[in-house]
Amino acid sequence: MGIYRERILPRIINATCGVAAADESRRRVCTGLSGDVVEIGFGSGHNVPFYPAAVTSVAAVEPSDLAWRLAGARLEAAAVPVQRSGLDGQSLPFADDSFDSALSTWTLCTIPDAGAALRELRRVLKPGGTLHFVEHGLAPDPAVQRWQHRLEPLQMLLVGGCHLTRSTADLLTEAGFTIAELDVFYEPGAPKVEGAFSLGTAVSP
Ligand SMILES: C[S@@+](CC[C@H](N)C(=O)[O-])C[C@H]1O[C@@H](n2cnc3c(N)ncnc32)[C@H](O)[C@@H]1O
Repeated sequence: MGIYRERILPRIINATCGVAAADESRRRVCTGLSGDVVEIGFGSGHNVPFYPAAVTSVAAVEPSDLAWRLAGARLEAAAVPVQRSGLDGQSLPFADDSFDSALSTWTLCTIPDAGAALRELRRVLKPGGTLHFVEHGLAPDPAVQRWQHRLEPLQMLLVGGCHLTRSTADLLTEAGFTIAELDVFYEPGAPKVEGAFSLGTAVSP
Protein backbone atom coordinates (compact mmCIF):
# COMPACT_ATOMS: atom_id res chain seq x y z
CA MET A 1 0.00 0.00 0.00
CA GLY A 2 1.23 3.51 -0.81
CA ILE A 3 1.30 6.50 1.50
CA TYR A 4 -2.03 7.80 0.13
CA ARG A 5 -3.87 4.52 0.75
CA GLU A 6 -2.15 3.84 4.05
CA ARG A 7 -2.02 7.24 5.76
CA ILE A 8 -4.42 9.61 4.00
CA LEU A 9 -7.36 7.64 2.61
CA PRO A 10 -8.41 6.11 5.98
CA ARG A 11 -8.64 9.67 7.40
CA ILE A 12 -10.76 10.80 4.45
CA ILE A 13 -13.01 7.74 4.86
CA ASN A 14 -13.23 8.35 8.60
CA ALA A 15 -14.43 11.91 7.95
CA THR A 16 -16.81 11.15 5.08
CA CYS A 17 -18.30 8.05 6.69
CA GLY A 18 -18.65 9.88 10.00
CA VAL A 19 -21.12 12.46 8.76
CA ALA A 20 -24.36 12.76 10.72
CA ALA A 21 -26.34 12.21 7.50
CA ALA A 22 -25.28 8.55 7.61
CA ASP A 23 -26.67 7.99 11.10
CA GLU A 24 -30.20 7.16 9.97
CA SER A 25 -28.96 4.43 7.62
CA ARG A 26 -26.67 3.08 10.36
CA ARG A 27 -29.55 3.01 12.83
CA ARG A 28 -31.78 1.19 10.33
CA VAL A 29 -29.19 -1.34 9.20
CA CYS A 30 -28.10 -2.25 12.74
CA THR A 31 -31.67 -2.80 13.94
CA GLY A 32 -32.21 -6.51 14.57
CA LEU A 33 -28.55 -7.52 14.84
CA SER A 34 -28.13 -10.05 17.61
CA GLY A 35 -25.75 -12.56 19.16
CA ASP A 36 -22.23 -12.94 17.81
CA VAL A 37 -21.72 -10.59 14.86
CA VAL A 38 -19.03 -10.41 12.18
CA GLU A 39 -18.59 -6.97 10.61
CA ILE A 40 -16.58 -6.75 7.38
CA GLY A 41 -14.97 -3.45 6.42
CA PHE A 42 -15.25 -2.21 10.00
CA GLY A 43 -13.43 1.01 9.07
CA SER A 44 -13.12 3.32 12.04
CA GLY A 45 -16.09 1.90 13.89
CA HIS A 46 -18.88 4.28 13.01
CA ASN A 47 -21.45 1.52 13.50
CA VAL A 48 -20.36 0.81 17.09
CA PRO A 49 -22.79 3.29 18.75
CA PHE A 50 -25.66 1.68 16.83
CA TYR A 51 -25.16 -1.97 17.87
CA PRO A 52 -28.35 -3.11 19.65
CA ALA A 53 -28.23 -4.50 23.19
CA ALA A 54 -28.94 -7.98 21.79
CA VAL A 55 -25.43 -8.09 20.25
CA THR A 56 -23.08 -10.12 22.46
CA SER A 57 -19.78 -9.74 20.55
CA VAL A 58 -18.41 -8.28 17.35
CA ALA A 59 -15.56 -9.70 15.26
CA ALA A 60 -14.25 -6.77 13.23
CA VAL A 61 -12.58 -7.44 9.86
CA GLU A 62 -10.58 -4.46 8.63
CA PRO A 63 -7.31 -4.27 6.67
CA SER A 64 -6.35 -0.70 7.62
CA ASP A 65 -4.32 -0.30 10.83
CA LEU A 66 -4.97 3.44 10.78
CA ALA A 67 -8.75 2.99 10.44
CA TRP A 68 -8.64 0.66 13.45
CA ARG A 69 -6.68 3.25 15.45
CA LEU A 70 -9.17 5.96 14.47
CA ALA A 71 -11.90 3.76 15.98
CA GLY A 72 -10.25 4.06 19.41
CA ALA A 73 -12.71 6.36 21.19
CA ARG A 74 -15.74 4.51 19.81
CA LEU A 75 -14.25 1.18 20.88
CA GLU A 76 -13.60 2.48 24.40
CA ALA A 77 -17.23 3.57 24.66
CA ALA A 78 -18.58 0.32 23.18
CA ALA A 79 -21.21 -1.53 25.21
CA VAL A 80 -20.19 -4.89 23.70
CA PRO A 81 -16.77 -6.51 23.20
CA VAL A 82 -15.36 -5.71 19.75
CA GLN A 83 -12.23 -7.53 18.63
CA ARG A 84 -10.26 -6.94 15.44
CA SER A 85 -10.28 -10.51 14.22
CA GLY A 86 -9.37 -10.44 10.54
CA LEU A 87 -7.88 -8.35 7.76
CA ASP A 88 -9.66 -9.46 4.59
CA GLY A 89 -13.34 -10.13 4.00
CA GLN A 90 -12.43 -12.38 1.08
CA SER A 91 -10.78 -14.91 3.40
CA LEU A 92 -12.26 -15.01 6.89
CA PRO A 93 -10.27 -16.73 9.65
CA PHE A 94 -13.35 -18.26 11.29
CA ALA A 95 -14.86 -21.74 11.44
CA ASP A 96 -18.03 -22.53 9.52
CA ASP A 97 -21.33 -21.62 11.24
CA SER A 98 -19.68 -19.30 13.80
CA PHE A 99 -21.90 -16.20 13.76
CA ASP A 100 -25.54 -15.28 14.30
CA SER A 101 -25.45 -12.08 12.24
CA ALA A 102 -23.18 -10.19 9.87
CA LEU A 103 -22.87 -6.52 9.02
CA SER A 104 -21.51 -4.69 5.97
CA THR A 105 -21.88 -0.95 5.49
CA TRP A 106 -20.51 0.66 2.31
CA THR A 107 -17.87 -2.07 1.99
CA LEU A 108 -18.92 -4.37 -0.87
CA CYS A 109 -18.04 -1.50 -3.24
CA THR A 110 -14.38 -1.70 -2.22
CA ILE A 111 -13.55 -5.33 -1.58
CA PRO A 112 -11.89 -6.50 -4.83
CA ASP A 113 -13.87 -9.77 -5.05
CA ALA A 114 -17.16 -8.91 -3.36
CA GLY A 115 -18.62 -12.26 -4.39
CA ALA A 116 -15.87 -14.10 -2.53
CA ALA A 117 -16.51 -11.97 0.58
CA LEU A 118 -20.23 -12.79 0.49
CA ARG A 119 -19.53 -16.49 0.05
CA GLU A 120 -17.23 -16.29 3.08
CA LEU A 121 -19.98 -14.59 5.09
CA ARG A 122 -22.38 -17.37 4.11
CA ARG A 123 -19.83 -19.94 5.25
CA VAL A 124 -19.28 -18.38 8.68
CA LEU A 125 -22.94 -17.51 9.34
CA LYS A 126 -25.03 -20.14 11.05
CA PRO A 127 -27.84 -21.53 8.87
CA GLY A 128 -30.61 -18.95 9.05
CA GLY A 129 -28.14 -16.23 10.08
CA THR A 130 -28.75 -12.78 8.67
CA LEU A 131 -26.51 -10.32 6.86
CA HIS A 132 -27.49 -6.69 7.43
CA PHE A 133 -26.24 -4.41 4.67
CA VAL A 134 -26.28 -0.88 3.38
CA GLU A 135 -24.24 -0.35 0.24
CA HIS A 136 -23.99 2.17 -2.55
CA GLY A 137 -24.02 0.76 -6.05
CA LEU A 138 -25.63 0.62 -9.45
CA ALA A 139 -28.43 3.19 -9.66
CA PRO A 140 -31.92 2.19 -10.80
CA ASP A 141 -31.96 4.85 -13.55
CA PRO A 142 -30.10 4.29 -16.86
CA ALA A 143 -29.05 7.96 -17.10
CA VAL A 144 -27.37 7.77 -13.68
CA GLN A 145 -25.86 4.40 -14.56
CA ARG A 146 -24.19 5.92 -17.62
CA TRP A 147 -22.50 8.53 -15.41
CA GLN A 148 -21.52 5.84 -12.92
CA HIS A 149 -19.75 3.89 -15.66
CA ARG A 150 -17.98 7.03 -16.86
CA LEU A 151 -16.82 8.07 -13.39
CA GLU A 152 -15.98 4.65 -11.97
CA PRO A 153 -12.29 4.60 -13.06
CA LEU A 154 -11.68 7.95 -11.33
CA GLN A 155 -13.61 6.86 -8.24
CA MET A 156 -11.54 3.65 -8.05
CA LEU A 157 -8.33 5.63 -8.32
CA LEU A 158 -9.22 8.21 -5.67
CA VAL A 159 -11.21 6.06 -3.25
CA GLY A 160 -9.12 2.95 -2.85
CA GLY A 161 -10.75 0.74 -5.49
CA CYS A 162 -14.34 1.77 -4.70
CA HIS A 163 -16.73 0.72 -7.50
CA LEU A 164 -19.85 2.66 -8.48
CA THR A 165 -21.60 0.06 -10.64
CA ARG A 166 -21.94 -3.04 -8.49
CA SER A 167 -25.46 -4.37 -8.01
CA THR A 168 -25.83 -5.29 -4.35
CA ALA A 169 -28.94 -7.41 -4.97
CA ASP A 170 -27.24 -9.38 -7.76
CA LEU A 171 -24.12 -9.96 -5.66
CA LEU A 172 -26.22 -11.26 -2.77
CA THR A 173 -28.31 -13.66 -4.82
CA GLU A 174 -25.29 -14.89 -6.81
CA ALA A 175 -23.61 -15.71 -3.48
CA GLY A 176 -26.62 -17.78 -2.41
CA PHE A 177 -28.26 -15.36 0.02
CA THR A 178 -32.03 -14.97 0.13
CA ILE A 179 -32.93 -11.29 0.28
CA ALA A 180 -35.46 -10.76 3.06
CA GLU A 181 -35.78 -6.97 2.99
CA LEU A 182 -34.47 -4.48 0.44
CA ASP A 183 -34.93 -0.72 0.22
CA VAL A 184 -33.33 0.96 -2.80
CA PHE A 185 -33.20 4.75 -2.59
CA TYR A 186 -31.15 7.82 -3.40
CA GLU A 187 -29.58 9.25 -0.26
CA PRO A 188 -30.94 12.81 0.11
CA GLY A 189 -28.22 15.41 -0.41
CA ALA A 190 -25.72 12.98 -1.99
CA PRO A 191 -24.78 12.95 -5.70
CA LYS A 192 -26.88 10.20 -7.30
CA VAL A 193 -23.81 8.46 -8.74
CA GLU A 194 -22.62 7.78 -5.19
CA GLY A 195 -25.92 7.93 -3.35
CA ALA A 196 -27.82 5.00 -4.87
CA PHE A 197 -28.20 2.95 -1.70
CA SER A 198 -29.42 -0.60 -1.10
CA LEU A 199 -30.33 -1.23 2.54
CA GLY A 200 -31.73 -4.46 3.90
CA THR A 201 -31.21 -7.95 5.22
CA ALA A 202 -30.38 -11.24 3.54
CA VAL A 203 -30.56 -14.71 5.02
CA SER A 204 -27.99 -17.46 4.67
CA PRO A 205 -30.10 -20.60 4.00
C1 LIG B 1 -16.08 3.12 2.62
S1 LIG B 1 -15.28 2.29 3.93
C2 LIG B 1 -16.65 1.90 5.02
C3 LIG B 1 -16.22 1.74 6.44
C4 LIG B 1 -17.32 1.36 7.44
N1 LIG B 1 -17.98 0.14 7.07
C5 LIG B 1 -18.32 2.46 7.64
O1 LIG B 1 -19.51 2.27 7.39
O2 LIG B 1 -17.92 3.54 8.09
C6 LIG B 1 -14.81 0.70 3.28
C7 LIG B 1 -13.96 -0.10 4.23
O3 LIG B 1 -13.67 -1.38 3.65
C8 LIG B 1 -12.35 -1.71 4.01
N2 LIG B 1 -11.85 -2.77 3.13
C9 LIG B 1 -11.16 -2.62 1.97
N3 LIG B 1 -10.82 -3.82 1.48
C10 LIG B 1 -11.30 -4.75 2.34
C11 LIG B 1 -11.23 -6.16 2.39
N4 LIG B 1 -10.63 -6.89 1.42
N5 LIG B 1 -11.82 -6.79 3.43
C12 LIG B 1 -12.44 -6.09 4.40
N6 LIG B 1 -12.53 -4.75 4.41
C13 LIG B 1 -11.96 -4.08 3.39
C14 LIG B 1 -11.60 -0.40 3.91
O4 LIG B 1 -10.36 -0.42 4.59
C15 LIG B 1 -12.61 0.55 4.54
O5 LIG B 1 -12.45 0.65 5.92
